[in-house]
Amino acid sequence: MCGIIGILGKKNNVVPNVLEGLRLLEYRGYDSAGIAVLDDQGRISRLRSSGKLTALEGRLRETPLSGRAAIGHTRWATHGAATEANAHPHMTERAAMVHNGIIENYQELKAGLEAQGHVFESQTDSEVAVRLVSQGLSEGKSPEEATREALLRLEGAFALVFLFAGEPDLLIGARRGSPLAIGYGPTGACLGSDALAVGPLSDRISYLDDDDWVVVRGGEAVIRNRAGDRVGRPVKRLDPSLRFNLGKSGYQHYMQKEIFEQPQVTGDTLKTLLEPSGGRLTLPEDLPFRVSDAERLNVVACGTSFYAAMVGKYWIEALARLPVDVDVASEFRYRDPVLAPKGVSVFISQSGETADTLAALRYCRERGQKTLGIVNVKDSSIDRESDGSLLTMAGPEFGVASTKSFTAQLTLLAALAINIASERGLLATGEEARLIRLLLEVPAMMAEILSRSEEIALVSRDILAGSRDALFLGRGPGYPLALEGALKLKEITYIHAEGYAAGEIKHGPIALVDKDVPVVVLAPTDALFPKIASNLEEVRAREGRIVFVGDQKGLEKVGKGLAAGLVIPPVDPFVVPLIYAIPVQLLAYHTAVFKGTDADQPRNLAKSVTVE
Ligand code: AGP
Repeated sequence: MCGIIGILGKKNNVVPNVLEGLRLLEYRGYDSAGIAVLDDQGRISRLRSSGKLTALEGRLRETPLSGRAAIGHTRWATHGAATEANAHPHMTERAAMVHNGIIENYQELKAGLEAQGHVFESQTDSEVAVRLVSQGLSEGKSPEEATREALLRLEGAFALVFLFAGEPDLLIGARRGSPLAIGYGPTGACLGSDALAVGPLSDRISYLDDDDWVVVRGGEAVIRNRAGDRVGRPVKRLDPSLRFNLGKSGYQHYMQKEIFEQPQVTGDTLKTLLEPSGGRLTLPEDLPFRVSDAERLNVVACGTSFYAAMVGKYWIEALARLPVDVDVASEFRYRDPVLAPKGVSVFISQSGETADTLAALRYCRERGQKTLGIVNVKDSSIDRESDGSLLTMAGPEFGVASTKSFTAQLTLLAALAINIASERGLLATGEEARLIRLLLEVPAMMAEILSRSEEIALVSRDILAGSRDALFLGRGPGYPLALEGALKLKEITYIHAEGYAAGEIKHGPIALVDKDVPVVVLAPTDALFPKIASNLEEVRAREGRIVFVGDQKGLEKVGKGLAAGLVIPPVDPFVVPLIYAIPVQLLAYHTAVFKGTDADQPRNLAKSVTVE
């Protein structure tokens, strides 16, 4: 949702380091940004700007800041418009602060502070935190005392970092519900929203637990709990790969790079579960339970991760005959779900920090469920709070639109389905090896479709880029893919797109179809092809602009009169979701390029939604 960072340097000017950290955090939110720096006289200077980080960098060129202690913030607005006045850091003459999360009792706190003479500058909830601390300082409390007392009065979710006037060697951070990491490196300790932010300065990392607060002074970080007792949190070596090429490697956008990384990523992800013999898929030994012993799975996620869950349901039920419920996380807790006594609850999340998914995890744990995370960020909240996790090997995903993390999630879910079916003795001789071979061939098939990216771009240019509405249709596992294709298109091009189960189109949505509406039909030649071919005819009869996505055999069957035909190599139905994800991602990406929208950082969005 927002990115926060705090750095204490030994001698040098840390402003460039803060900016580097903010660049690595911008994927979390980018509608405004700001920095506060303590100068050699102990005064706090601040610069903020609405818009992306480049705007703040421009301001800094006009008005350079320098100092050994600084905090920075990239914002995704929750309370108050994306204006400079609402941008973080918020400050008084005594302290400055950056915040990620939502302070739910801010109105009450604000009223009390106004009664004490505070004049608020912003419409945000966050500002109350720095004013509470400043009020404590004005009453003669130390920064530690003032901060700890303020934290006890806050309700809601927060990750906070404070800087104090006259205290050039002090940062205080705190966490409840929103992630905060401590990076340890040769230049000292720093604080940030995640490993990426602290990575450039750190070789070791710790994560605060909820209600921890940390005092960073003299290169040392002292962590305390809500009661003020000193506590230890595990210090782990920071994966050097985090420093691996975080650039765009010559691609126009991160999203494009990440789409093209999928052959590598799906192969790497599969290998984490493949026995050396290549003949079996096994789950991590440290998983404290056998998923195949479960009597029911419930899978909870948001957005693209939810669509991966939907595909997983098809695979697991078809192969392993294990009932699977899937829920969007923001609905799950509130429907008072019936959880199987011997059930396993699965939480899929690229970031591992999505608030609704994390809340669902906690809900299930409280009810005795065994919990399994499927995440892309090791040591993320969902990873750490699940009984066990399967890690996608997608690497950092900077494009706000999930692409490589989606197919990596699918890879793990397909492997999980095979593993459960095998453990339950439901696979005929040779079937496990056959299915594994299909998964092993996925990277090459993806690469073949990626090589035709420019052909797909023409369809985007000629059929999608000028449209106002679009429909995506699919059947079976192609239905969640239709939902995913619609989400990709709408979130990066702002074209209103809807995904539908193809059989549903005649129950209302077909009223949307006319000669101006592109309809993308995902139609692999599988058992359902005759059905989806009929749905395609229903669209054609209403002059819909049909973009056929299928193999040559199917294209020949549906005949002429299409707006476009994207021919995919024939694939076994089992791997259709993995292979057909590539054309729907490229259709959206190229449409965004032709429309000139920002494929990496679309308006109104953030990569990690850490508020409910
Ligand atoms: C997908 O392209 C979107 N960025 C969004 O729907 C995303 O999938 C959703 O917010 C869930 O994020 P997570 O996987 O990090 O939990």
